[in-house]
Amino acid sequence: MPKILEINSLSKIYGKGCSYCNKIIYEKSEESICPECNSVLALKDISFSIKKGDRFGIVGESGSGKSTLLKILYLLETPTTGDVIIYDNSAPRHMSNISINQVNYFQNNIMSFIRQNPYQGLNFNFTASGNVAERVIAKGNQNFNSVREISNSFLSKTGILKNRFYDLPSQFSGGQQQRIQIAKALASNPQIILLDEPTTGLDLTIQAVILDLLKALYEEYGFTMVVVSHDLGIIKHLTDICIVMKNGSIVEFGLTDQILQDPQHPYTQSLISSML
Ligand SMILES: Nc1ncnc2c1ncn2[C@@H]1O[C@H](COP(=O)(O)OP(=O)(O)OP(=O)(O)O)[C@@H](O)[C@H]1O
Ligand SMILES: [Mg+2]
Ligand SMILES: [Zn+2]
Repeated sequence: MPKILEINSLSKIYGKGCSYCNKIIYEKSEESICPECNSVLALKDISFSIKKGDRFGIVGESGSGKSTLLKILYLLETPTTGDVIIYDNSAPRHMSNISINQVNYFQNNIMSFIRQNPYQGLNFNFTASGNVAERVIAKGNQNFNSVREISNSFLSKTGILKNRFYDLPSQFSGGQQQRIQIAKALASNPQIILLDEPTTGLDLTIQAVILDLLKALYEEYGFTMVVVSHDLGIIKHLTDICIVMKNGSIVEFGLTDQILQDPQHPYTQSLISSML
């Protein structure tokens, strides 16, 4: 399969940065805070690529930089150094030099982002149907009846019952709110879906149901999926290939099954033992 996404030498410093920050980044040392200028070194010179249709996992403990990385991929944050390249119909597009209109194009047409916190992923003033409609409209559909029909069909796809379509997000359970986020993400027919801890905070049975729903939708639509989790169980369930992150660096990369069976890095080994 051709490449769909690529990142090269990506770093993110929260703070003003200094030459010592750069030294930490390029030596990939463990510090997450620069002792000279107190900046946070959230990502340190990360590179990888994702192929079309991949189910790609990003796993690591809290603070390892996973959400920062996803926010950069969705163009919500800009990297301090490095570049994100998205292949739009095989043509490489460098995100470092695109206009705001093009940012909207990539966010509304090419990628969708499912957040851990439904308050970040949903508009709580709009009904379930209205939330999905927002995406259909952003993609250019302006016919009221058709927008409503499309939106409701995606809500049905994710298991929201017809008599709940016009309820507000606050009237739904956590698991149902994630279903609405998934419907919203699918509604723009994206090539890439980014998921940040999609089931964290849900109870275990609901987690399993949502993971199975995501798997089934992947089979049906064939999008590329980038899944962030601190939980190796979820990465095992949902991904074929993954990176393991620690303190803003990639410590391991490979096929998910192989990493789980034969982890090379002591950090991955400790993640696995904590799962058993
Ligand atoms: N806007 C910000 N300003 C300053 N520091 C930030 C900002 N956003 C994130 N950070 C810091 O960057 C580091 C990486 O954070 P990030 O949210 O990417 O971690 P994470 O792997 O997603 O963790 P979690 O599993 O807890 O969600 C952390 O030290 C965090 O405190
Ligand atoms: Mg996070
Ligand atoms: Zn510094």
